[in-house]
Amino acid sequence: TLSVTQHKDLAGVHLIVTAGPTQEPIDPVRYITNRSSGKMGYSIAERAHKRGAEVLLITGPTGLPAVDGIKTINIKTCEEMLEQVRHNFEWADAVIMAAAVADYRPEYVSEQKIKKDDDAIMLKLVKNPDILEQLGKIKGNKKLVGFAAETEALYENAKKKIDKKNLDMIVANDVTEKGAGFEVDTNIISIIDRDGKVTKYPLMSKMQVADAILDRMLDILK
Ligand code: CTP
Ligand code: CA
Repeated sequence: TLSVTQHKDLAGVHLIVTAGPTQEPIDPVRYITNRSSGKMGYSIAERAHKRGAEVLLITGPTGLPAVDGIKTINIKTCEEMLEQVRHNFEWADAVIMAAAVADYRPEYVSEQKIKKDDDAIMLKLVKNPDILEQLGKIKGNKKLVGFAAETEALYENAKKKIDKKNLDMIVANDVTEKGAGFEVDTNIISIIDRDGKVTKYPLMSKMQVADAILDRMLDILK
C-alpha cells in the first residue's frame, strides 16, 4: 500500500538518518568508496521532515543540496560517521542507516601522494567498525532500521543481518534488478521485520519508498 501521507504523523519523533557513501583515504589525493548517490537517505530525511519528525542527517559526500530545516552533519569516513551517530544516539528515538559504509579502510594513510614507481603495489585493508552492530548492543527502546543491498540470496542475507545487528527491520533490495539501487530515482524493496515477515513492494520512486519505510517505522514506534 502506497501512502501519500500529508499530515504530521511523525511529530515529536527524533530521527537520525545516515546517507551516502563513506570515503576511506589512501593518500592525500585518493580514497576507496562505495557506489551510492545518497538519494535514498536524503529522500527518507526529507519525507520524515515533511511528516513532522525532527531529523538529523549524517551524510557522506554526495553533492546533493542540503534540505531546509534538516540539521545536516557532513562526514567522510566510517569512523567519523560512527562518532557522530554515537554522539547523537541518546537524543534519537530511531536510526535509519541508509548509508553505504565502506567495510574496509586502508591500514595506513600515506602522508604523501603515492608515486607510480613500482609495477605493482599492495594495499592492505582493515575492517571498519560496524556502526549498526555497535548501536544494536546499546539500543534499549530505540528502533534500528538497516538496509541490505544484495546481489544474491536476498532474504537469507537480510534476515541474518537483522539478528546479527539486533535490528527492528531491514530494507532489502536486489541491486541487480532493473530500476533498483544506484543512481536512479526508483527502487524495488522488501521490508523484513524482526519476526521474519517479508513485505514486497512494487517499483516505486525513492520518495514513495521513503514513505513506505517511515510508515513501517511509525508502526513499530507505537
Ligand atoms: N553498516 C554499518 N556499518 C558498517 C557497514 C554497514 O552500520 N561498517 C550498515 C549499513 O548502513 C546497512 C547495514 O549495516 O544499513 C547492512 O549493510 P551491508 O553492507 O548490507 O551489510 P554488512 O553487514 O556490511 O555485510 P556485507 O557487506 O558483508 O554483506
Ligand atoms: Ca557492507
